[in-house]
Amino acid sequence: MKALVTGGAGFIGSNLARLLLDQGWEVVVLDNFLSGYRQNLFPNSSRFGFVEGDIRDAAAVGQAIAGCDIVFHLAASVGNKRSIDRPLVDAEINILGTIQVLEAARAAGVRKIVVSSSAGIFGELKTLPIAEDHPVDPDTPYGVSKLAEEKVSLAYHKLYGLEVVCLRYFNVYGPNQRFDAYGNVIPIFAFSVIKGAPITVFGDGEQTRDFVNVSDVARANLNAAQAKGVSGSFNIGSGTRISINKLVAALKAITGGGFEVIYGPPRAGDVRDSLADISRARESFAYTPSVELMVGLNEYMAWARTKAAAPASEQDADAKVSCSECPTTATR
Ligand SMILES: NC(=O)c1ccc[n+]([C@@H]2O[C@H](COP(=O)([O-])OP(=O)(O)OC[C@H]3O[C@@H](n4cnc5c(N)ncnc54)[C@H](O)[C@@H]3O)[C@@H](O)[C@H]2O)c1
Repeated sequence: MKALVTGGAGFIGSNLARLLLDQGWEVVVLDNFLSGYRQNLFPNSSRFGFVEGDIRDAAAVGQAIAGCDIVFHLAASVGNKRSIDRPLVDAEINILGTIQVLEAARAAGVRKIVVSSSAGIFGELKTLPIAEDHPVDPDTPYGVSKLAEEKVSLAYHKLYGLEVVCLRYFNVYGPNQRFDAYGNVIPIFAFSVIKGAPITVFGDGEQTRDFVNVSDVARANLNAAQAKGVSGSFNIGSGTRISINKLVAALKAITGGGFEVIYGPPRAGDVRDSLADISRARESFAYTPSVELMVGLNEYMAWARTKAAAPASEQDADAKVSCSECPTTATR
């Protein structure tokens, strides 16, 4: 099997590309390094190819998709904050870029496209756990563009019979997740702890999140691709939730503690609780998250320590934003 992974130089895409290569697939990555890293590519594999380009560029997408059976579409302008800062860029990449990828997939006769969506499409949460039929009412440009990405992809399924699976990720964490201005709570906490800086929890810390390990997310993509005839939207979380206070306690247990925890006022717009109902993905393509949070956190801390200890020249090459821009956010 041959797959195109758009956004494969990024956090989730690089973990997926590795899994596909391990499974014997041929993999082509298309990425423009907006938030991805050359170090995440696999130049030493004979089954790996790379096209440096933009998903909005028909020629680049056409070159990358040639001969592919499956497309994993992960390239995106990622995150609420980035979309609020640059809403037009968010819409251009996430909506127009996705249509460009769909057009190329149709022209190339691709069997299936697996689209990375987000729990951000739900907006304010009304029920727990969150099933796929929970109302969608996004409250950021990012949530809106990810919802549009889903809708237009599913329209291609109806119009052209292209198999389309949209995976709505909850809070993903794991190796290759950098600490940057748009980062998630786990990298922000982890790198603060490693630097000996205090961590800030917004609110009372009793808010809960569904953290899912990136290897489970990569596996969800693989299973969804292999499930012939399956199309639609699916929640991808761990199916469990943990409070931010318990996350801090877990980090203390792993690191031996010794870091300061500051409690700040709650942040406007943060949801109180989050928990994915993953039964649809379980039933449709045997999605079975298997990484326990403590195991995944231990692995992540080990990765983050290696990253933090890398030579300054390598860290500079990795830095997309200066740390002074980084929020001490407890939730994304
Ligand atoms: N990380 C999470 O918790 C999370 C949660 C929900 C959804 N998602 C979705 O998962 C996908 C992957 O996210 P991630 O966390 O790995 O982010 P990431 O920023 O690490 O990866 C995105 C990749 O897309 C590339 N890219 C961006 N614009 C591009 C363009 N115009 N052309 C080509 N490449 C481009 C970036 O360079 C980067 O390598 C995204 O679609 C995101 O919306 C992530």
